[in-house]
Amino acid sequence: MASRLADRWVLITGASAGFGAAAARAFAAEGARLLLGARRVDRLEAAAASARAAGSPEVHFHGLDVALTASVETFVRWTATVADRIDVLVNNAGGALGLEPVSEGRDEDWEGMMQSNALGILRMVRAVLPRMPRDAGATILNIGSIAARTPYENGAAYCAAKAAELAITKSLRLELCGSGIRVATLDPGMAETEFSVVRFKGDEERARKVYAGVKPLTPEDVAEAMVWMAGRPAHVCIDEMIIKPVDQAAIHKVHRRVVGG
Ligand SMILES: NC(=O)c1ccc[n+]([C@@H]2O[C@H](COP(=O)([O-])OP(=O)(O)OC[C@H]3O[C@@H](n4cnc5c(N)ncnc54)[C@H](OP(=O)(O)O)[C@@H]3O)[C@@H](O)[C@H]2O)c1
Repeated sequence: MASRLADRWVLITGASAGFGAAAARAFAAEGARLLLGARRVDRLEAAAASARAAGSPEVHFHGLDVALTASVETFVRWTATVADRIDVLVNNAGGALGLEPVSEGRDEDWEGMMQSNALGILRMVRAVLPRMPRDAGATILNIGSIAARTPYENGAAYCAAKAAELAITKSLRLELCGSGIRVATLDPGMAETEFSVVRFKGDEERARKVYAGVKPLTPEDVAEAMVWMAGRPAHVCIDEMIIKPVDQAAIHKVHRRVVGG
């Protein structure tokens, strides 16, 4: 049976790395057509090439900064020049900046996290909604985090930004009830991507320690869940999904295997 996602137009934000780049390949393998956005256009070009190799009939990419309304509007206007509609919007762009107590937090980091993880979703949805078909399986899939549900010390702003993502998802689900557009959140636990390198501002050694002795999720694990959620029959909405590594029972409960032990 052909995939329900074949020939669908799927827009993925933050497609230059991690979950977003893996999602581009996974939707491509279903035969979906892709619109990819992120700030690093050279990395988008590589993600687009992988998606074409994975089987997408059509892949386009364009620079996008979800923290800027003008950039979002330019991006969505550009989508209209290559695609007649947007069937699936994956709001994945985001991440964490810093891991400090509030007493040592930096405005720049707090504002960056709120902009990309929370306000970016509002901007993208406002701009894309007029281009989404009604009653035809259209999907808004927001990428949240278990941090939205269990705050942790030194992560106040990130946890708050992801809690905002969850609240936005729930509000949209109510606002769009009757439109035939489904709205969902996919909330991962620990996954190895560039997330920790970005959080620790390029300190790769510190980033590696986050995953020491643990078998974290891979970007492909998360992408597979995205494809499944967006590929359900048009009348089905998976409102919320939490996906964690087996080694992570809760945000603070991570089993670490002793290396060499
Ligand atoms: N890895 C984890 O453990 C984990 C767990 C739960 C949730 N998440 C969430 O999953 C999402 C993807 O993260 P990831 O783990 O794949 O991290 P990643 O490898 O660092 O990828 C983040 C992506 O977001 C893009 N991005 C960041 N700010 C942006 C902006 N202002 N405008 C446009 N694109 C932006 C980056 O692209 P550019 O830099 O090129 O713009 C990159 O493509 C994030 O929302 C993150 O919070 C991650």
